[in-house]
Amino acid sequence: MADFFDQICEVLAENGKKYPGNLTANSDIREFFSAVKTPQPEPAPVKNDPPPVMPRNVNTPKPLNQPQHFNDLKSLCDSLADCQNCPLCRNRNHIVFGEGNPNARLMFIGEAPGYEEDMQGRPFIGAAGQLLDKMIKAMRFTREEVYIANIVKCRPQNNRTPAPDEITQCIPFLHQQIHIIRPEVIVCLGATAAKALLNTPNGISRLRGKWCNFENIPVMPTFHPAFLLRQESAKRDAWHDLQLVMSYFFSREKK
Ligand code: URA
Repeated sequence: MADFFDQICEVLAENGKKYPGNLTANSDIREFFSAVKTPQPEPAPVKNDPPPVMPRNVNTPKPLNQPQHFNDLKSLCDSLADCQNCPLCRNRNHIVFGEGNPNARLMFIGEAPGYEEDMQGRPFIGAAGQLLDKMIKAMRFTREEVYIANIVKCRPQNNRTPAPDEITQCIPFLHQQIHIIRPEVIVCLGATAAKALLNTPNGISRLRGKWCNFENIPVMPTFHPAFLLRQESAKRDAWHDLQLVMSYFFSREKK
């Protein structure tokens, strides 16, 4: 059976033929859901102006090695070449800096590179990455149009969650990437990404589907694709979250 997000793409493609220019395809998507899943309540109304969230400071220690300030991604990436700021450098094969359109309107932030990513130096290219590609396509973006990065740039052994001090050391580089790219929207994939970027202790089930913000950039936390691979039923919630992002872009285009 085709994956959930493949099916969404099919419905959207059909819908696009019927209603050219209509991004969200609400009635057909609802029909799709009711055909394959139990009925759901109406999606929450989209807030076009996400409220700022001033998060609690949980990762308190200041980074020991503040990165130099760079104005372009290449210089920032080059500055990391031999990074030894944290113990993750010991076992890495490649630093996974991030990739995509330097002028991306939409940025995805994951947790940390996995095995495949460490071997190739590229983010989200394993099984979770394939699902992320489908999610991006279902949002009517291409992988080349968006930017994809992680909270930490080196793989934690056995794919463990990065430790707080590893995050503290690495996140200033992600902050610089965000400053350089200035995306219109950030999607945080999973708890580690959402907690670290938003500096909140709240879990992903509480955070997902609600607009947050990082330095006035709207942030939508949603489930990590690796979780969605294990928990198929959560794809419906993830799709709801991604639709909020699509609606946000759509509302901006209408203005
Ligand atoms: N999971 C992540 O969080 N990031 C990757 O790059 C790959 C898998």
